[in-house]
Amino acid sequence: MIDVSSLALLKGKKALVTGIANDQSIAWGCAKAFHAFGADLAITYLNEKTRRFTEPLAKEVNASLYLPLDLQHDGELETVFEAVKKKWGKLDIVLHSIAFAPKEDLHGRVVDCSKEGFLQAMDLSCWSFIRMAHLAEPLMKAGGTLFTMTYHGSQRVVENYNMMGPVKAALESATRYIAAELGPKGIRAHAISPGPLRTRAASGISEFDRLLRKVESKAPSRSLVSIDDVGVAVAVLAMNGAKLITGNTLYIDGGYHIMD
Ligand SMILES: NC(=O)c1ccc[n+]([C@@H]2O[C@H](COP(=O)([O-])OP(=O)(O)OC[C@H]3O[C@@H](n4cnc5c(N)ncnc54)[C@H](O)[C@@H]3O)[C@@H](O)[C@H]2O)c1
Repeated sequence: MIDVSSLALLKGKKALVTGIANDQSIAWGCAKAFHAFGADLAITYLNEKTRRFTEPLAKEVNASLYLPLDLQHDGELETVFEAVKKKWGKLDIVLHSIAFAPKEDLHGRVVDCSKEGFLQAMDLSCWSFIRMAHLAEPLMKAGGTLFTMTYHGSQRVVENYNMMGPVKAALESATRYIAAELGPKGIRAHAISPGPLRTRAASGISEFDRLLRKVESKAPSRSLVSIDDVGVAVAVLAMNGAKLITGNTLYIDGGYHIMD
C-alpha cells in the first residue's frame, strides 16, 4: 500500500539551487516550487552585480543559505558544498541551471567555433554538472535527486542553437552515466528539457522570438511553457514517489518534441 501523505511534499528535504539570475530564470521557477512543497533552500548567485536581483528572491523563499558561485572562480563550487555540509550535513536535491557560451562562437556555425569557446561552454554548461554530482554524492546519504537543464537542440538541429547543441547532448549523456553510477545509492539524475522561455540566457540566441512563435503554433498544447510549469514538474520528480524515475531527458514543452 502506498502512503500518499509521504508522496506529496518535500518537507524536510534540503535543496541547492544554482542558476537564478532574476525572476525570469528557470531556476527561480524551480526554487518557488521546492519552497511551496516544503523544502529548505540554499541559493547561489553569480556575483555582487546580480545580488540586487537575487537577494530579494532568496528572502522570498526564506533561503537558509545564500552564497556566491561563479564557476570560473576555482574552488567556489567546493566552498558552496562545504557550506551546505556545515549547515545541513546532508543534501536531497541539486538543481544545476547554468549554461554559458561565448557570443562569437554561439552565433557562428558549429564547424567554425573556436576550441577555447567550445571548451568554455563544455566546462561551464556540462562539466560543472558532473562536478556537482561528485560533490553531492557524499551528502546524499539517504539518496537524492540531481537536475540539470537541457534543450531539444541537443537532439535535432534547431536553427541558431548552434554550438549549444553538442554541449547539451554531452550534458544529457553525462546525466545518464551519473544516474547509472549513483543509482545504487538511491541518487537519481534528470535532464529537464523545457520548451523555449524568454530568459536572459535565451536573449543570447538569435531570432529567439521567431522560435517562440513557431513552438507556440506547433506544440500540441498550442502554448509556451512558463517557469512555474517547469518548477512544479521538477519538484514532483524530487518527491519520494518518483524514486524509480531516473536517467531520462524529460521534456516540458507542451509536446513540441514529438512533432515533425
Ligand atoms: N530559456 C530557454 O529557452 C531554455 C530552454 C531550455 C533549457 N534552458 C537552460 O536552462 C538553464 C537556465 O537558463 P535560463 O534560461 O533560466 O537563463 P538564466 O540567464 O536566467 O540562467 C542562466 C544562469 O547561468 C548562470 N551562469 C552563467 N555563467 C555562470 C558561471 N560562470 N558561474 C555560475 N553561474 C553561471 C547565470 O548567472 C544564470 O543564473 C540553462 O542551462 C539553459 O541552457 C533554457
